[in-house]
Amino acid sequence: MKKTQIITTVFEYDSIDELSTEDQELVLNAKEAALRAYTPYSKFNVGAALLLENGKLVQGNNQENAAYPSGLCAERVAVFYANAQYPDVAVKTIAITSHTNGSFLESPVPPCGSCRQVLLETEDRYKQPIKVILCGERKIKIVESIKQLLPLFFDKEMLDE
Ligand code: THU
Repeated sequence: MKKTQIITTVFEYDSIDELSTEDQELVLNAKEAALRAYTPYSKFNVGAALLLENGKLVQGNNQENAAYPSGLCAERVAVFYANAQYPDVAVKTIAITSHTNGSFLESPVPPCGSCRQVLLETEDRYKQPIKVILCGERKIKIVESIKQLLPLFFDKEMLDE
């Protein structure tokens, strides 16, 4: 038996002012998107914004449905839209924010497991890591690749073995 450890590296910031101008703009886009989410059931609004390699910004937000599982998270709405619109362009960065009860959340909200899996496939597809910015009002956490948030991941390599 051998015990191993997997280490995740997270960069933490106390204010959006500490981010680059590019990242700040992306966070503002994610916030804008959160305010347009369709969330009649949870009232939990998530906004995602992507910066693509060609400089385009793409926004997404969660879309809910009376048949609950038919809805989709903000991150996947953004990634699938980007992949549908610009299939040859890599995703460089994603910023994620959440808004509920009239204000943006103080703490950063990390993406759900399914969104992590989709972001992982997107990294693989374009052979380029995606920087993930989790933006809360009091704390911002950044990881340099979705793999930091999804250790022991399943990907297409396993299908080929
Ligand atoms: N949600 C997202 O949009 N992204 C996530 O990564 C986690 C959850 C949405 C789904 C649902 O509309 C609401 O938040 C409450 O779960």
